[in-house]
Amino acid sequence: MPEGEIAEKLHSVFTQPRFDTGVKFDAGNKTATEIEKRIRERDGKIPFSEFMDISLYSEHGYYSSGKVDIGIEKDFQTSPEASELFGASITSVLIKTWSAMGRPERFQVVEMGAGQGALAHSILQWAEDLDPDFSKSLQYTIVEYAKDLIPRQQEKLAMFQNVQWIRGSAYELPLANIEGAFISNELPDAFPVERVAKLNGEVKQKFVSIDDNSWVEIWDNPSPEVAKFIEDNKLQIHGGVEEPINIKALELQRQLDQALNKGVILTVDYGKNGTVGVKNTIGVRTFGRSGNMYRRDFLKAYEYPGNVDITSSINFSILTEQSIKDGLKVVFSGTQYDFLTKAGIAEIATKMREIAQTTRFWDELVRMSKNISGYHFLSSSTANFYSLMVAKGINTAHLDFINTQEAIDTKPPKVPVRLPESGKTYYLGFPSLAEEAEYDTNIMITDEEGRLWLYPHTLERIKIIGTDQKVVLDLTQKENLVQVVKDAGYIMS
Ligand SMILES: C[S@@+](CC[C@H](N)C(=O)[O-])C[C@H]1O[C@@H](n2cnc3c(N)ncnc32)[C@H](O)[C@@H]1O
Repeated sequence: MPEGEIAEKLHSVFTQPRFDTGVKFDAGNKTATEIEKRIRERDGKIPFSEFMDISLYSEHGYYSSGKVDIGIEKDFQTSPEASELFGASITSVLIKTWSAMGRPERFQVVEMGAGQGALAHSILQWAEDLDPDFSKSLQYTIVEYAKDLIPRQQEKLAMFQNVQWIRGSAYELPLANIEGAFISNELPDAFPVERVAKLNGEVKQKFVSIDDNSWVEIWDNPSPEVAKFIEDNKLQIHGGVEEPINIKALELQRQLDQALNKGVILTVDYGKNGTVGVKNTIGVRTFGRSGNMYRRDFLKAYEYPGNVDITSSINFSILTEQSIKDGLKVVFSGTQYDFLTKAGIAEIATKMREIAQTTRFWDELVRMSKNISGYHFLSSSTANFYSLMVAKGINTAHLDFINTQEAIDTKPPKVPVRLPESGKTYYLGFPSLAEEAEYDTNIMITDEEGRLWLYPHTLERIKIIGTDQKVVLDLTQKENLVQVVKDAGYIMS
């Protein structure tokens, strides 16, 4: 979809009570027909979370039917698939946790949402390399919801005897009394979420419907459960900013806190320590086949139900507060990169180089040689990745090497920004985006080709010449502008 068209559609998403996507319902798509059936049963519309749940986890859904394909140039990339360094660093932290527990004979690791088994493979293998005694104590359990992913994981892990599988949902946790660690990478981002934003000053929730054989989105009053979640977690909801409401992620954290007897819970995912909505960007992203990313072209979720991933960022402060309330101690809360650095990724990389000269790591080393530190993927592409580690019943002094707790981020949502060229003609976009007082300096501008430019706090810095429909930008202070945008922490695209 051309960017101008996307901008126009996004404008409708945020400002109109009803958004006609223009995407036709495909009666030949089994997931789409299942969604349509649900909509009919529910008097004409379903919450977005139900659309997402059926798209990903019904019989023909993206995860449940095993269509998901993770890796470089596949549907999407994850850290454990990108490098052994990720799983190895986590193994090193698990060994320290095991030591903090007095090196028990049995140490349980429960990984939830194991994808293609890459993280489990790294941990089980690196446990043998780093500490054979730890490896002997290790009992690895995978809790996986997607039926068709389990055989793929079993094939990948066939050489290990100490792995068992439980098919089920992590947030309906079939486990208790765990002594060891619960771990996950990119799990809660795959949970069905609601999307909320303010419309004409009122918080609304997104519903999905089908009308005249096309997909339609409708803003309506939030369900009592969603309203309570917003209130309980004191979430600031703004106009033009969609905040994903991940009730199941909180439910999972609550259940893990209870099911853990002694040990740690490590959650790695994209997100941050506060609300995650980005202005004028919808609250979920879609990823499709063969490396195509549909970050902006959000209508792919309606074009290909069951064939694309749908995902949203995690507000880690909600999970952290829950664990604190449940009596757990925060051991680490910060970026994934900081976590891996403290976990000893540099030492692991050195060790990997030593082992690689004679053994199985040769291919990995060759891959790493493009960027010899091996940090490239884990640091750059994961800039938005966050790690949270909480502990229960253990002496966390043993984990002091990692102790970090980031303050809750209460900054207003970020806005993607581009810098235009001076002197060209631009068109003033949707003034309604400035409807919220705290954002009244925001302005949206499109150029002659319909490309979108967003301006935060810059009206006094750039001179706008022209009517309120057509403007010429005098950018004599463009240097300042770049600095202002960067200082404010906005995303440059
Ligand atoms: C984005 S993938 C991440 C896969 C893997 N952890 C990685 O980093 O490559 C999400 C994984 O979580 C699984 N999953 C989603 N919802 C789940 C749930 N409620 N319980 C357990 N697993 C779930 C999916 O089937 C998939 O394996």
